[in-house]
Amino acid sequence: MKPYIFITRKLPEQVVARLTEKYEVKMWDKEDEAVPRDRLLLEAKKADALLTMLSDSIDEELLSVGEKLKLIANLAVGYDNINVKAAAEKGILVTNTPDVLTDTTADLTFGLLLATARRLVEAAEFVKEGKWQSWSPLLLAGHDVHHKTIGVVGMGSIGETVAKRAKGFDMNILYHNRSRKPKAEEDLGAVYCSFEEILSQSDFIVCLTPLTNETKNLFNQESFKKMKKSAIFINASRGAVVNEKDLYEALINGEIAAVGLDVFEKEPISANHPLLQLPNVVALPHIGSASIETRTEMMHLCLENIDLVLSGKKPKTPVTH
Ligand code: GLV
Ligand code: GLV
Repeated sequence: MKPYIFITRKLPEQVVARLTEKYEVKMWDKEDEAVPRDRLLLEAKKADALLTMLSDSIDEELLSVGEKLKLIANLAVGYDNINVKAAAEKGILVTNTPDVLTDTTADLTFGLLLATARRLVEAAEFVKEGKWQSWSPLLLAGHDVHHKTIGVVGMGSIGETVAKRAKGFDMNILYHNRSRKPKAEEDLGAVYCSFEEILSQSDFIVCLTPLTNETKNLFNQESFKKMKKSAIFINASRGAVVNEKDLYEALINGEIAAVGLDVFEKEPISANHPLLQLPNVVALPHIGSASIETRTEMMHLCLENIDLVLSGKKPKTPVTH
């Protein structure tokens, strides 16, 4: 019997085709809807490998039913949706998709920063809604990006790549991370700072840290109060790193100027969420790595990891913890 692979979302047939000779491959048949939990549990029971999305909760219960399960290949660099410790205890490998999405995610993050600072979404809607009556000196005037100070919180590969883009905009670069980044310091002039220094000195605070017990709720009432009133906050990591209620309060009280969010505490965020009613909030539907090229590469990397592990070899991009 061929080993069985279950993919929790509909992916392009031609991408998956490379594995169908060697393996029995089944996909959840919807592209825009997550596989129901009971179906996922049934599949986990049968599967040798699962290819999962960041929207699937791979918890202890699911890992326990996976009697034959050898690998969870997550289609994301983040893996906070997986109980990695429980997986390790059961001898189940976990892989993610680092590196292939770094430039693409950095592009989106910097694009979101530009869009938020220069009010691009608001301005584009203004024109399309027929509101443009005349040119005027301060019409939709935003904030400059060039020569300002950016503070990157979470200086992994994506953080460093955002910093590289910031250098091209002549920005002053600060960063905070668990470990120092000598190469970024040397190449980009990035300056290591405490979290508090980042908050008080940055014009743009860009969150790219993974979601862990330490970073959950990192950006809260206290953090927003320490920011400049003119500060613009960008989050392209995970929603739960931010306390959205506190963020909302900070915006309506004028404690910070604007925010650009690609991620939310609960995804999808509901259209009537208070944050989405504010003009100085730019919101995107978690599209950091969403270019056709990069998403396709991520899928191929997941399939490669699955093929390696099911052939008794080491995966290319294991999650280490
Ligand atoms: C996306 O958020 C990812 O972790 O790849
Ligand atoms: C903090 O930002 C960290 O990555 O440790």
